[in-house]
Amino acid sequence: MTAENNWSSAEKSHTCGALRLHHAGERVRLAGWVHRRRAQGGLIFLDLRDRWGITQVVADKELAAEAHAAAQESRPEYVLAVGGTVRQRPAGTENEDLATGAVDVVAEEIQILNAARTPPLYITREVGEDEGLRMKYRYLDLRRARLQRNLEIRHRAIKFIRDYLSERGFLEIETPILFKTTPEGARDFLVPSRMQAGKFYALPQSPQQLKQLLMVAGVERYFQIARCFRDEDLRGQRQPEFTQLDLEISFVQREDVMSLNEALMLALVAAVAPERKVQQQPIPRMRYAEAMERYGTDRPDVRYDLCAEDISDIAGKSGFRVFVENAAAGKPVKCIRAPAMAAQMSGTLLRKVTAEWEEQVRAVGGKGLAWLALPEEESGEIRGPIGKFFTVEQKLALFDRMKAAPGDLLFLISDEREVVQRIVDALRPQLAAQLGLIDEDTLAFVWVIDFPQFHWDEETQRWEPSQHMFTMPLPEDLPLLRSDPGAARGSQYDLVCNGHEVAGGSIRIHDRALQEEIFPLIGLTMEEANQQFGHMVEAFEYGAPPHGGIAWGLDRVVALLAGEPNIREVIAFPKTQTGSDLMASAPSPAQEEQLKELHIRLSAAAERELQREGAVDGRQPIEEAGSGAGH
Ligand code: AMO
Ligand code: AMP
Repeated sequence: MTAENNWSSAEKSHTCGALRLHHAGERVRLAGWVHRRRAQGGLIFLDLRDRWGITQVVADKELAAEAHAAAQESRPEYVLAVGGTVRQRPAGTENEDLATGAVDVVAEEIQILNAARTPPLYITREVGEDEGLRMKYRYLDLRRARLQRNLEIRHRAIKFIRDYLSERGFLEIETPILFKTTPEGARDFLVPSRMQAGKFYALPQSPQQLKQLLMVAGVERYFQIARCFRDEDLRGQRQPEFTQLDLEISFVQREDVMSLNEALMLALVAAVAPERKVQQQPIPRMRYAEAMERYGTDRPDVRYDLCAEDISDIAGKSGFRVFVENAAAGKPVKCIRAPAMAAQMSGTLLRKVTAEWEEQVRAVGGKGLAWLALPEEESGEIRGPIGKFFTVEQKLALFDRMKAAPGDLLFLISDEREVVQRIVDALRPQLAAQLGLIDEDTLAFVWVIDFPQFHWDEETQRWEPSQHMFTMPLPEDLPLLRSDPGAARGSQYDLVCNGHEVAGGSIRIHDRALQEEIFPLIGLTMEEANQQFGHMVEAFEYGAPPHGGIAWGLDRVVALLAGEPNIREVIAFPKTQTGSDLMASAPSPAQEEQLKELHIRLSAAAERELQREGAVDGRQPIEEAGSGAGH
């Protein structure tokens, strides 16, 4: 935490993190919260805390009876102003854990500025309480050193980004929150219009359209620390509202956007989290196809290997029926090498451990998990239930392919391609954790490129854009849009770190004809497309420059910088998994009057639900009639 500061306010001459040995003898005024309080005979020791640190205050009954009485009355989290003299701590009582630990302040005057009830959570502890309690009393949770540090890291990261981009000709421009649907694959949050009955704004899922329109407007270099809104299931590292570093540049190609962002990211890490090791610079690149084949995901964690290698050619010639049949049907057989995992395991233990992993595989839809354990000595025996189906030559070919070493455990998996990918994706991180292969201090970035332009959606029976509908296909794949859309690759690039997608962008379509070719492919009629995106295609007719950009998930980036496992820890007031703010109880029912003004009537089901919760009373339940919101 920043120690020194050069401002003061009426109550404070110094912060609680500022005092050092050279201050001894100075008269100071501190203000803050009582962190801890200990009484020892005629002495009371108060640890006084503010954002900058902790300073020990000593109230001595002999020296200052009134100050002592105030200290006596104080309890944890009381707000105090303290006047006193800095003193070198008596030899042997220094506190090495505190930056201010060489000194304390002998109180001459203590003023209780405010009392505090006993807090429902322990500010002095790092964690401990359940998430619900932390969220309900977030303002107390935020007093903790860990979260104070996270807020500061976030501030410093955003400041660094702003300065870096400003120096390179970027303008930060705010774009509207009340807007029109800007789909990024989630549901929209809608805001009803009072002035225009029956109409709704959509909160932007990202500023995507607006930043492209800013390119048409000639801004050339835009960025924004932008709030985005997506009504989606809040699994993993997601929040219904989150923050992007959003960025767009004109007259660029994929390479330009990637290299600018790479330089910014690496400079950011060096400036804000220099203790984190970047695994590889320049940031390596991986094609989407390779990521899916070897890591089973398009956001591979490359801190560790454990990659799946295709062994269909070898296993397909073995005597194991499942592998032979699958390989013949074009279903892959893949192998993951767990280094030294079988070393020093008895046969019983090996069977127990592999049975547990097989359970994990079944849990994600796999049919089984075959394995081979390499002996630790040359003369030892290869163990595993399917060993007998492989000839010596086949085994040697397999070990060669896997670069296997004595004591390694090889896992063999075969199924439909997607199922194998799912299994590989599920196994790798768990295996890595168990084998101790994850270095928490490392940031392993990788660019994933050459995504398919579309994915086929079985449910809706149509092509869905892999990124969004404004992504330009790779120029060489343009003819495929007509002949084989599934084979066309997009200009999309994703930046992945430690298995999280931290940024994604693309070069955009800036040509009306091409944009209009995309709409029907993704199931939009020209009429729907015009209604929703007519302003975009129209803008493309007035001299749209070639352009491209990217957006970072800023919460995720800050969480990685701070070493936090969850983005909730780096957001001041996050929402729970069900999208609630437990502190203020949002969302909450609206007044009947408000709803009327907004031309909205709740469904009978919604009314009943609210009454059941006791959230409203005295409303007339309306008849079950047609759809939900309406007027
Ligand atoms: P995309 O949808 O990939 O791209 O979003 C960019 C980045 O935002 C983060 N992110 C989220 N973070 C927290 N909670 C969420 N619900 C959430 N959803 C996404 C991810 C992701 O990589 N307009 C495009 C960008 C562009 O093309 O320039 C866009 O929004 O880290
Ligand atoms: P079985 O012949 O069914 O006893 O299977 C022998 C071994 O092969 C067991 O360890 C199974 O878990 C494994 N196995 C079965 N089907 C598959 C599959 N599709 N992929 C990988 N291993 C499998």
